[in-house]
Amino acid sequence: MASYFSYAQAGSMDFSKILHQAPEGTFHRIPLVPVHGIPLMKLIATSWDKVEKFQARKDDLLIATYPKAGTTWMQEIVDCIMNHGEVEKTRRAPTHVRSPFLEMFLPPPVPSGIDMLEVAPSPRLVKTHLPYELVPQSFWQQKCKVIYVARNAKDNAVSYYHFDRMNKMQPDPGTWDEYVVKFLKSDVGWGSWFSHVLGWWDARDKHDVLYVFYEDMKEDPKREIRKVMRFLGKDLSEDVVEKIYQHTSFTAMKENPMANYSTIPSNVLDQSVSSFMRKGEVADWMNHFTVSQNQIFDEEYEKRMGGSTLTFRCKI
Ligand code: A3P
Repeated sequence: MASYFSYAQAGSMDFSKILHQAPEGTFHRIPLVPVHGIPLMKLIATSWDKVEKFQARKDDLLIATYPKAGTTWMQEIVDCIMNHGEVEKTRRAPTHVRSPFLEMFLPPPVPSGIDMLEVAPSPRLVKTHLPYELVPQSFWQQKCKVIYVARNAKDNAVSYYHFDRMNKMQPDPGTWDEYVVKFLKSDVGWGSWFSHVLGWWDARDKHDVLYVFYEDMKEDPKREIRKVMRFLGKDLSEDVVEKIYQHTSFTAMKENPMANYSTIPSNVLDQSVSSFMRKGEVADWMNHFTVSQNQIFDEEYEKRMGGSTLTFRCKI
């Protein structure tokens, strides 16, 4: 795949063209298949050996998140920082090309995340939703840096629900009421939110992991941008921070075709159902949870998170 699909072609949007030209019915809602107990899209599960054997490079930066925690926002911030604030350079290609999705496999001939990473120049910016335990060992052997973004469970669930409504590759989420139950039972892609955030929280003791909260990014984006800059060893001026802040605001990213997933056709991501850049807020869960759903959620939350040093803010 890598031989015919160069990174340059990816940058010139051939990726979207391949998706557009896919025969009717190529992308459909397929049940999830467990990989080491974690439910994943079937094509990821059937290609799992390739993910396990993935060879990280020393200067790879891994951006790890539970789905819908703010991955794309962090990818954009980091790409701006790696380009020293020359934000125009981030318009060279869509997010999924600039920062390929490690474990993503779509029906051939769509290149996989690994195909794209293998031809990507260093330093590579790698996206993953894998829980800590499933990350390919080479990342740890190469002592790669990781930025983990976590988002409070309620907003994360709401965002994931709307995403699963519009993402034709994920199982149908059903009604919101049904989805809350599925989310709490970890019967969603990439499994349990609880194990994910806790697993990566513990990983901070073993590896070079910067743990960032979506709510902190919303509260004070410039402070968090500076934090990421320090972690990456970049000393950029306040003017550059301001430029990155403007470029990565929700409004700017919503309008930016290289950041809003509008290059992915509607047979895969149907943005007429729900926008990828949907609301970008903290506490939207209050517009979704009923009193009874909230009570059930809180009880389960206490069981799973009680006693942990990891705490979240559901409002700011
Ligand atoms: P909502 O569905 O709550 O709007 P991911 O990139 O991990 O898939 O996460 C997507 C979520 O992050 C969506 O949340 C999206 O709107 C939000 N998001 C993306 N860019 C953002 C930004 N610049 N500021 C705030 N939220 C952003």
